[in-house]
Amino acid sequence: MLNPFAGDPEAVKQGRKLFQSNGCSGCHGLMGGGGMGKPILDDEWVYGSDDETLFRLIKGQIPGQAMPRTFVGLPAEQVWKLLTYVRSLYKGDPSLINWPLTPPEGSAAMIADFSKPRAYTPPKGLHDQEVPTPSDNPITPSKIKLGEQLFFDKRLSKAKNMSCESCHVPEKGWTDGLAFSKKFDGSLNPRHTPTLFGAGFLPELYWDGRAQGLEALIPDVMKSQMGADPEEVARELNAVPAYKSAFEAELGGPPTPDRIAKAVATFVRTIHAGDTPFDNLPEGAEDDVAQGFKVFSEVTHCTLCHLPPLFSDTLFHNMGVGSDRENPDPGRFKFVADTALAAHTRIPPEAEALTGAFKTPSLRGLLLRAPYFHDGRAKTYDEAAGIMMKGGIPNPHLDEKLQEWPVTPEQRTQLLAFLRSLTPESKPYPRPEVP
Ligand code: HEC
Ligand code: HEC
Ligand code: HEC
Repeated sequence: MLNPFAGDPEAVKQGRKLFQSNGCSGCHGLMGGGGMGKPILDDEWVYGSDDETLFRLIKGQIPGQAMPRTFVGLPAEQVWKLLTYVRSLYKGDPSLINWPLTPPEGSAAMIADFSKPRAYTPPKGLHDQEVPTPSDNPITPSKIKLGEQLFFDKRLSKAKNMSCESCHVPEKGWTDGLAFSKKFDGSLNPRHTPTLFGAGFLPELYWDGRAQGLEALIPDVMKSQMGADPEEVARELNAVPAYKSAFEAELGGPPTPDRIAKAVATFVRTIHAGDTPFDNLPEGAEDDVAQGFKVFSEVTHCTLCHLPPLFSDTLFHNMGVGSDRENPDPGRFKFVADTALAAHTRIPPEAEALTGAFKTPSLRGLLLRAPYFHDGRAKTYDEAAGIMMKGGIPNPHLDEKLQEWPVTPEQRTQLLAFLRSLTPESKPYPRPEVP
């Protein structure tokens, strides 16, 4: 993969704008000199300086990367323009440069490809983002429909009495209003059901990130939450003519566990909380919502983790939530440790700091989906925000990015108005007809 805009002065200009509007300058400095974060104009490269590595870093595809993964949704065209700008900042040894200085062969075709209409565009506020999609499972309108039917179909469970909706209710922000939901066998989940708003943007799913992508998660959820045997479900769907033909048409063959996962994943990729009052704020607005966003980003620095437009960095942090329980949930630490054990390698030293760390939830659709946090302890959004504004709950692994910043009562009111503005108007969700 090579940058089709290499050396293009117009792309440098546009890349500079994107570098500012996406908040890259906040960590790297507008001229790349660092400041709060890592300098990017020297010869030291964490993962390598070739186009493909840097592209993957910005798209959040390097395992364990420390750079936030908020940019997973940035369209390829914008990533390349950003990198064209990054290249233009280079102050290192010219003899070490190993990237093309002129557009590579085939770049005209690549650039033309960028302006092709997209199969799916998320709603306002996220509309200039691209929902990451595996190359063997592109989004199509009829696949979305098929996935939606399956999502609401109780055939996906063991006793045919549960669907995904049993725990992910659209009107409740795609969660279920409970601190902990009951699994198929009546046992309680140890963690709160997360929202599905924006789940398509998350490279690693579940509160501890142990599922790599939606296609991997769905068969797991069918087994663990719904008690189903995906092979058996596939056989049953195969006996329903409308399903059989839809699978053949959309996925090239009869229902299989893999094809069920692909269809449901496609539907989940289209669940978003966009077109919110915040997304519709007129330019130059100065009301409480606009002021509140300023407080959120510049006074209380919540954007260090809740980065727009998703309002999540998709990374894992210890906020202390749950550290005060008798047997604290080890969160991300357990996943990192288990992965190391399975690979017969030593647990990396940085894993310790991830004890009690959980995925930063997106704040979109916040009002619909009480209670909050991975243990569902906060009954209202302002209680949750209050815990965050206090700098979390003290414990030995508390993330240093979270601090208590002094705010006036007026700023607090504005911050809460901003949080409320991230929820779209609530309407009943029309259920599809299940064949
Ligand atoms: C919250 C801070 C933060 C933001 C925002 C951020 N970065 Fe980074 N960036 C990092 C960190 C930390 C690294 C070091 C890589 C690592 O350890 O994963 C990095 C690494 C890089 C590198 C590779 C540098 C090297 O020496 O290997 C490039 C290029 C880069 N970032 C570009 C960008 C661009 C473009 C954006 C905006 C789309 C951006 N960054 C936004 C923190 C940030
Ligand atoms: C019995 C309740 C229940 C049912 C039924 C259920 N889920 Fe979930 N879901 C959960 C819980 C609990 C979690 C979080 C588990 C964890 O983090 O360890 C979760 C997590 C998820 C996530 C990850 C979200 C994130 O932010 O990481 C997705 C996506 C998801 N479920 C989709 C589905 C789909 C699709 C179905 C139907 C095939 C389904 N769920 C059925 C309870 C349920
Ligand atoms: C260091 C990263 C970080 C910072 C800074 C941060 N948050 Fe969070 N936030 C998280 C994580 C991680 C969670 C989930 C914690 C858990 O459930 O254990 C969370 C959860 C939340 C929730 C509950 C959402 C839900 O769906 O359960 C709200 C509301 C929230 N944060 C608001 C804020 C506000 C307001 C600020 C600034 C005052 C802030 N956060 C600063 C990482 C952060």
